[in-house]
Amino acid sequence: MSEVVRLPERPGGDDGVDLLLRGGIVVDATGERQADVVVRGREVVAVGPDLSGDVELDIRGCVVSPGLVDLHTHLRQPGREEAETIESGSRAAALGGYTAVLAMPNTTPAIDSAAVVREVLELGRAACCDVHTAGAITVDRAGEQLAPMAEMAALGVTLFTDDGTGVQDDLLMRRAMEYGRGLDVTLAQHCEVAALSAGTCMHEGEWSARLGLPGQPAEAEELMVMRDIALARLTGARLHLLHMSTAGSVAMIAAARAGGLAVTAESAPHHFTLTDACCADYDATFKVHPPLRGERDVAAVAAGLADNTISAIATDHAPHCPEDKELPFDQAPPGMLGLEYALALAITQLVDGPAGMSLAGVLARLSWQPAAIARMERHGRPVAPGEPANLCVIDPEATWTIDASGGASRSRNVPYVGREVRGKVRHTICEGVLVVRDGEAQQ
Ligand code: DOR
Repeated sequence: MSEVVRLPERPGGDDGVDLLLRGGIVVDATGERQADVVVRGREVVAVGPDLSGDVELDIRGCVVSPGLVDLHTHLRQPGREEAETIESGSRAAALGGYTAVLAMPNTTPAIDSAAVVREVLELGRAACCDVHTAGAITVDRAGEQLAPMAEMAALGVTLFTDDGTGVQDDLLMRRAMEYGRGLDVTLAQHCEVAALSAGTCMHEGEWSARLGLPGQPAEAEELMVMRDIALARLTGARLHLLHMSTAGSVAMIAAARAGGLAVTAESAPHHFTLTDACCADYDATFKVHPPLRGERDVAAVAAGLADNTISAIATDHAPHCPEDKELPFDQAPPGMLGLEYALALAITQLVDGPAGMSLAGVLARLSWQPAAIARMERHGRPVAPGEPANLCVIDPEATWTIDASGGASRSRNVPYVGREVRGKVRHTICEGVLVVRDGEAQQ
């Protein structure tokens, strides 16, 4: 557990002040009810009608949810602090309603040893949200030699991935799964067969042909999804599939789960909101891995989230400096920001759109289901006395327009500029501390 820096002007934490959330609707894994909530120290101490407290927040019309949990955050530290830091990324997370993030290990150096895990967790102790980290599967994410997963698992790492690239070698991936099974950790894959994606910069289809840009087929993702499901069956390992983007992947995951395999999957907001047509102006803001796909894939991802084939929405928040994103499309790095937009995009696209999800369904995929995948025991918990006070307060009716500022991120690669969305984070409470109040970070 990370220590959160406490400032006197932020009510909550260990300051002995009772923080009252008055008049909201609690939505968690156990259901939905009208109730006041009182937070004292690091815990929820009371949930019910007509409660009182020392500091009161009037949240009539708002929803109190367990804090959101992001399984896929690029915090860029160590190594690319000009694009993001643990401090700036965690502030963006808190503003987006997140109380926990899982940092991806494609940093410089890679998070592939106990020493680097320790460094990241140490930096995370002063952050606005709980910072966990994934560990790399292979040394330097080079895909050649297994990383010392046991020493990282001993520090609490529960999920391993070479994200940014997939592990190409079938035998090495089999060994990683065998090793991971013994350690009781989850293997997470960035599914991309390098032989099919090398030299490409967008999805292969009508738009890549029209734009004259080299495209990668959906099969570059799907072949690795297929292989890893087969290896999960062979080894009995737990497998989590990162940023799933194609209809074929969704169908294979549904079959694997129906067959009883320990396979989970996530999709990113951009894969249920944007299509490859966004690349029409050669604007590298829309370049991402896996690439934006066609309409059929976007609809399949939304449907997969709705029927819980894909049980988590993960941001793949991938900050890149403006000078990098201003490079020509084929040379620019892939990735887009997500932490401050995911909740509103999910409500707008998945609740108000054809997928027809409930708000509780969206919150399940943003909070308690991802918390369970990463085994974050203090997050995604029911809002009940004795539970950790990791909460967010959402105004589901507030509408707003996404701007180009990039919010709290050090980067500005926002692909949603000008989009009208519904759902705004009002307050975020992390370990009992009010880290975001009225949409403003308190640190
Ligand atoms: O678009 C992406 N950007 N996909 C990845 O897998 C890595 C990420 C990054 O680190 O920028």
